[in-house]
Amino acid sequence: MIKKETIESIRNAARIEEVVGEFVSLKRRGANLVGLCPFHNEKTPSFTVSPAKGIYKCFGCDESGDAVRFVMDHEKYSYPEALKFLAEKYNIPVQEAEKLSEEEIQQEKERETLHAVNAFAANHFKSRLWDSDEGRSVGLAYFRNRGFTDAIIEKFQLGYNPEKWDDLTATALNEGYKEQHLIQTGLTIEKNKKVFDRFRKRVIFPIHNISGKVIGFGGRILGNEKKAAKYVNSPESEIYNKSKSLYGIHFARTPINKKDHCLLVEGYTDVLSLYQSGIENVVASSGTALTRDQVRLIRRYTENITILFDGDEAGLKASFRGIDLILEQNMNVKIVLFPPGEDPDSFAREHHSEETEYFIQKNAKDFIVFKTRILLKEAEGDPVKQAGVIKDIVETIGIIPEPIKRIEYVKACAALLDKQEQTLMNELNAVMRKKHTASRKKENELPEPPGDQPHSVQKISPTPVKDPEEESRISKEKDVIRILLNYGSLYFTPSYDPEKEGKEGNDDKVEKPEPLNVAEAIVSDLMRDNVSFSVPEYQKIFLQFIEFIKDKTPVNNSFFTSHPDTSVSKASIDLMTEPFQLSKNWEIKHKIYVAREEENLEMMVVKALLSLKLALLMEQKETVQKKLKEVELEEEQRPLLEKIQAIINKEKRIAQILGRPIMR
Ligand code: CTP
Ligand code: MN
Repeated sequence: MIKKETIESIRNAARIEEVVGEFVSLKRRGANLVGLCPFHNEKTPSFTVSPAKGIYKCFGCDESGDAVRFVMDHEKYSYPEALKFLAEKYNIPVQEAEKLSEEEIQQEKERETLHAVNAFAANHFKSRLWDSDEGRSVGLAYFRNRGFTDAIIEKFQLGYNPEKWDDLTATALNEGYKEQHLIQTGLTIEKNKKVFDRFRKRVIFPIHNISGKVIGFGGRILGNEKKAAKYVNSPESEIYNKSKSLYGIHFARTPINKKDHCLLVEGYTDVLSLYQSGIENVVASSGTALTRDQVRLIRRYTENITILFDGDEAGLKASFRGIDLILEQNMNVKIVLFPPGEDPDSFAREHHSEETEYFIQKNAKDFIVFKTRILLKEAEGDPVKQAGVIKDIVETIGIIPEPIKRIEYVKACAALLDKQEQTLMNELNAVMRKKHTASRKKENELPEPPGDQPHSVQKISPTPVKDPEEESRISKEKDVIRILLNYGSLYFTPSYDPEKEGKEGNDDKVEKPEPLNVAEAIVSDLMRDNVSFSVPEYQKIFLQFIEFIKDKTPVNNSFFTSHPDTSVSKASIDLMTEPFQLSKNWEIKHKIYVAREEENLEMMVVKALLSLKLALLMEQKETVQKKLKEVELEEEQRPLLEKIQAIINKEKRIAQILGRPIMR
């Protein structure tokens, strides 16, 4: 948890045009800046940044938010990650709130200590590689021999740990690092009361998390000696969760996002060689089967993944199960097989980057089609096996969440299998039905998940059909909130007071009316009539305005545009940018529109309030009329009829006011 004060200073420091400008090239246009939207493909810029309002909005794809939201959406960061990113950009020290429990604080401190130990170790290995005789003649020579450039060795912070038993451990202890922490990170091993290094006489590949902190290490033996394991890796620790990490993700995340495509390889060296040859959207699963969490990590950046496979067919078949995990996340999976004896590392070293890229592109085969071909080849001439293939393939197709994709695959695979589409469709339906019952059973067994995570996806409920009255009420609610947001802090001098309407003898004293604040005028009027908003976002905004006025704090719109509830921030940004949308030539029109509205603040406020009330009255009338149809006795009907009459009278009065000019 980051301290509130820190969040505030980050928000104050973060200038929207600078934050967005880091990723999007912006051009000034009037009071705003425009650029090509990074969230969808476009050729003419509709992505608009308003420095004054501290917000961005794309009129093409409707993405909107403030600086923090931009970093979250663009970099796929969580809220605290985005804040920390901005804190770094603006050199703001991040203070954590002390709200954490004692245990959590302890844990956090421990994690920080382990990160510090790893950072120290990475540095140690690096300096041994570059600055020691043994490191240079053994480690650096090894890397250079394999064709790695100094630039790539430095970028990935590769290192070397000497042959000595406790080179790192002894140095670290000497520097004041605690034995217990060295053991916890796995850098140091304790045996028979003796401590020594896990990595000895090995070149070192630090493993980074998304934000670039070293969480673990892989150490490769030199040359091809068979007497020890080729790689030794850090064990899992408080900060290293293997199933959630991918080698290279810190360096690849931006390229993956840009290319909307991720290459998945097996090993450290595959990542390095591809990266060195200019193919940067690459990560490695480090020789283990891909996990759900790893797939989700990639999915933060792209839905398209190509697996570069360098093993034999047996190994390939063994990986089929794991690939289902990728399909399950609705990702598009392709497979590239490398020629025997080649892997991405060797291939990238022997070819130009264009050649490698071309090879990957040309050989990438859709996974399901590929799997069908392989299984089919195996089952050749064996009808029993062939029936099994259909089942296997249909099971895989059934994993894909998107129905349209499933149907496309049924078509493609039916052709490959030389079967009727309907045959596969029937099989697929059976699979889907079975899954459905299974998941329903599960749902019934599971307790309701807790529902109030701040950024959780909203439950999708069926859109209720709105009757015209409700539609009109919503549009009137919208107008009132729009005025609150856009003009809430302005003042107007009232010329018309409905309270005094009809009261005679008040005009002997010629009092100059006090200027009225727009927000106060609206809020007090609506509160007097006990009006609440039916749209939840509007109601939230309204309640906050009541707070502002009660506390006498100035109206602060960034409170809404930065609201943690994205439905609120989106609604407020939409309303604050609404006039732009009125015409294509929004810039000129916008000015005119605003000018006109601002000149007639009072008229605008009164009109909006009365229109809303009129809509509410119409709704009330509707309800009473419905009730009227349900009662039969005359004495029951009479009060309802009276009510209706009263409503009609009120409606008439409002209509009258609305119909005549208010400003005189
Ligand atoms: N691996 C491991 N332990 C081993 C062998 C492999 O952890 N004993 C992991 C490493 O992450 C390695 C990956 O599996 O990067 C792929 O293994 P392999 O293809 O054998 O290694 P390469 O990375 O290709 O290494 P090299 O090119 O140096 O042989
Ligand atoms: Mn390999």
